[in-house]
Amino acid sequence: MTTAQVTPTAPRLPLVGALAHLRFGGHDFLLETGRRLGDAYWLYLCGERVLVVGHPEAAARVLENVNDAYPDKGGSSGFRRLSLPFVGSGLSTWNAMDPEWRRRRSAAARVFRSSRPPASWSVPFSVVDGSTLRRGLERRVVGDLVRHFLSVDADPRDIDTVVDGFRTLGRDFWSGKLPWPQPLRTRRAALVTADLEATVDRWILDSSVGAPLRHHLPDLGTERVRDEVLSQLLSVGTLAIPTEWALRLLATHTNIQRELRASLDDPESDLLSRIVREALRLCPSTYWVQRRAARPDVLAGAAVAVDDRVIIHLPSVHRHPEFWEAPGEFRPERYLANQDWKRAWMPFGRASRLCVAQRYSFDAIASVLADVVRTSSVEAATPLQSGFRVGLNLIPRTASLRFSPL
Ligand code: HEM
Repeated sequence: MTTAQVTPTAPRLPLVGALAHLRFGGHDFLLETGRRLGDAYWLYLCGERVLVVGHPEAAARVLENVNDAYPDKGGSSGFRRLSLPFVGSGLSTWNAMDPEWRRRRSAAARVFRSSRPPASWSVPFSVVDGSTLRRGLERRVVGDLVRHFLSVDADPRDIDTVVDGFRTLGRDFWSGKLPWPQPLRTRRAALVTADLEATVDRWILDSSVGAPLRHHLPDLGTERVRDEVLSQLLSVGTLAIPTEWALRLLATHTNIQRELRASLDDPESDLLSRIVREALRLCPSTYWVQRRAARPDVLAGAAVAVDDRVIIHLPSVHRHPEFWEAPGEFRPERYLANQDWKRAWMPFGRASRLCVAQRYSFDAIASVLADVVRTSSVEAATPLQSGFRVGLNLIPRTASLRFSPL
C-alpha cells in the first residue's frame, strides 16, 4: 500500500487549500491534478481533507458500497445539505440506511417510471451561444417535470425564476465555501432561495393531492414537498450540460452527424444511444460524488480511515487510460468493440443511489439530438474549446453553435 499524495496547494494555502483553484481556476483542476498525482490523492478544502479517487475499480467499490464501507453521503454534514441548504430534506440528502430515503426513493422512482421527456425541443435556426442553449433546455425540462411531479402547467415567468435561481446558486457554489464573510453573495443566495421557495409553493398550491408526487408521499406537508421538488429540479442544469456538449460533438464531427441523421429511421441502429453514452462519458456533469467511510479501507493504494470523506471524480474515471483507448476522443464506435465499457462508465452513479432520473435524462438527451439532427445541421460558429470550469456541475467553456434548416 502507498500513501496517497497531497496536492501541493495544501502547504501554501492552508486555510483555503484547493478551493481557490476550484473557485477561480479557468480549467479542470481535478482532472489535471489526477493526471499528475495518480488515481487517489488528498485535497485540502478549508482545513478539511478529502480523498479524490479517479480509478474506475476504486470508484465502483465506493459507489457499490462494498463491505458496507461507504453507506452514506455524510448526512446532515453531507455535501449537498451543507452547500445547498435550500434542498432541505430532499431525496438526495438522505443517507441510504435511513428508511425515509427508501420511501422518498420509491416515490420518485414511481413518478419517473411513467414520465417520458418531450419529443420536440424547438431549437431556433440561428447562432446560439452555449449558455443560452442550455437555458432553453432547462426551461423546457422544468416545465415538463413540474407537469410530471405536480400535474401543473407552470407559468413561463415562474419557470424563468426557477431556472435563473438555480443558475445563480450553481455559479456561486464554491464561493459559498470560502472561509470569509461574503455579505453580497449571502444576500443574493437568500433572495434567490426565497423566490425559489415561493414559486414552488405556488405550484404546490395549484396542484391536487392526487398529483403524482403528492399521491406517492401523502403525509408530507407543503414544506417537505417543496424541498423534494427543489432538490429534483436542481438537476435540470445537470441534464442540459451534456446535452449541449453532445450537440458540440456533433457540430465538430459532421460525418457522425450525417451518419446519425441517416440512422434515425433504422430501428436496428443503436448509434443515437452510443452517441449519448459517449457524450456522457466525456461530459459527466455531476463530476463530484461524495461518500463518508464507515470502515477502514484501501482505495487505489491509499489507506482510508473511518470518517474520511471520499470523492469520486467522474471525469477522471471516464478518461482512465487503462480502461479507455484514446480517452479524450469522441468515438461512439468504441462501444461496438468493447462490451466491457460499463466497468468504467458511471455518469449516473451506481447501485442503490443510481440517479433516479437516469432513464428520463438519457432519453431526453437522445430526443434533443434526434429532433435537432432531423430538422437542422449543426456547426460550430466559434472555435470550440475542450475542458470545463467547475461549479455545482461541470461548466463548459463558452461556445456558439449555428443551427441551419436542412
Ligand atoms: C444527464 C443528467 C444527469 C446526470 C449525469 C445525473 C447524475 C447523477 C449522479 C451521479 C447521481 C448519484 C449521486 C450519488 O451517488 O451520490 C445522481 C443522483 C440523483 N439524481 Fe441525477 N443526474 C442527472 C439528471 C437528473 C435529473 C434530471 C434529476 C431530477 C429531475 C435527477 C435527480 C437525481 C436525484 C434525486 C438523485 C439522488 C438519488 C438518491 O440519492 O437516491 N438527476 N444523479
